[in-house]
Amino acid sequence: MNENTQKKLYIKTWGCQMNVYDSNRMADILSPLGYKQVEAPDDADMVILNTCHIREKATDKVFSELGRLREHQDKKKENGGKMLMAVAGCVAQAEGDFIMKRAPYVDMVFGPQTYHELPEMVIRATGERVVNTEMVTESKFDKLPEENISQGPTAFLSIQEGCDKFCTFCVVPYTRGAEYSRSVREVVDEAKRLADTGAREITLLGQNVNAYHGEDETGKTWSLGRLIAAVADINGIERVRYSTSHPRDMDQELIDAHRDIPECMPFLHLPIQSGSNKLLKTMNRKHDRDLYFKIIEDVRKGRPDIALSSDFIVGFPGETDQDFEDTMDLIERVNFSSAYSFIYSPRPGTPAANMQQQLHDKIKSERLTRLQALLAEQQKQFNANTVGKDVTVIFDRRGRQDNQYLGRSEYNQAVHVVANEDLFGQMRKVRVTASTQSSLTAELVA
Ligand code: SAH
Ligand code: SF4
Ligand code: F3S
Repeated sequence: MNENTQKKLYIKTWGCQMNVYDSNRMADILSPLGYKQVEAPDDADMVILNTCHIREKATDKVFSELGRLREHQDKKKENGGKMLMAVAGCVAQAEGDFIMKRAPYVDMVFGPQTYHELPEMVIRATGERVVNTEMVTESKFDKLPEENISQGPTAFLSIQEGCDKFCTFCVVPYTRGAEYSRSVREVVDEAKRLADTGAREITLLGQNVNAYHGEDETGKTWSLGRLIAAVADINGIERVRYSTSHPRDMDQELIDAHRDIPECMPFLHLPIQSGSNKLLKTMNRKHDRDLYFKIIEDVRKGRPDIALSSDFIVGFPGETDQDFEDTMDLIERVNFSSAYSFIYSPRPGTPAANMQQQLHDKIKSERLTRLQALLAEQQKQFNANTVGKDVTVIFDRRGRQDNQYLGRSEYNQAVHVVANEDLFGQMRKVRVTASTQSSLTAELVA
């Protein structure tokens, strides 16, 4: 491809890791058309905003970004060029028509299940505005290209998409559609290709990843635990992670994988949302707090050092002081290494948005502050406990300063190391010398 036919592609990604994976795949499928990814939108020939609809602010951010990009688009036009403007992802799926109406300069809107059709859509968009919000997950994975642009030493691989759980606050079942698992062969082949292009760590992704039930070539259904073993066996793969899990789908095979498979990292992100049985019920989470405690106990039996993470929603409709205290109590009892927490955001079309007893913003933010202070303290303590100890790091980023390398420990902690050799892409043992709430400083162990 010479300079003249090469086109600049700028992709901005919000939301979950599956969106990051999808953005990589969009770059893969557009590459044969001459598009090469660039770091900034100025002078781009195509811009894709890969969006998230999980909370209210996410949509606002998309519209303000579109406003900024429009200036680049106008400039490009003044210079005789054209910048194709596209909105993809979950906002596109949920609000495609609204975006088209409100932002007439947007050329394309397409949902997460249509990325395999990108080459055709790009051609169509030269003559008309394109909206595509079909929902057929199978065809997306069947038809995405077999080539992967290298993701570097740590890579994402979507194995499952969509969700059938219908938690009452969540838009995912509507934006990503019904649960779908890729076949074992497809996953293993893609993992091998990622290993061939330099990946040493693979994170298996799904909105509900441990509901994985892909088939092998004999038609037998595999669980996630079994799939982790197969990916761990691939030459060059030293670490396997997975995200995001649902407590209801934590089966014994997955729990055992943490005990039996050395490549299965001692880190578990297991969202619970609330510690109150009453709220777990109105959230339609399909389990109570005792099940959560039981899982944690079982996982710790096989892997006592496992680092635990979760997601919490504060201020769900009907949350009383007691419900909130139940959540605080659960956090105290489990002791997390890290966690995400959010103020409940009513999403149009979800059952919880119409529930009585919506809470005032003031109560919601007071509770969030208390909850985050407790989680921050636990994270700080978890990190402090590793000072003086050895951890293993895969270095997948260069730091801002010379000789500075960044990566993650087996427990998913961010680790900074200064070294006189090029550590990028290496997996090394390091000794932790200092810690903060969010990261560790370490030095190479000779
Ligand atoms: N599949 C994952 C979560 C996907 S969404 C699971 O089942 O846990 C990521 C996180 O966003 C959720 O765990 C939840 O904590 C948060 N979230 C989802 N909908 C939300 C809403 N309406 N308001 C606030 N937070 C929300
Ligand atoms: Fe959303 Fe619940 Fe499905 Fe997670 S399990 S994606 S929170 S509906
Ligand atoms: Fe957001 Fe869609 Fe992921 S709503 S969290 S990008 S599945």
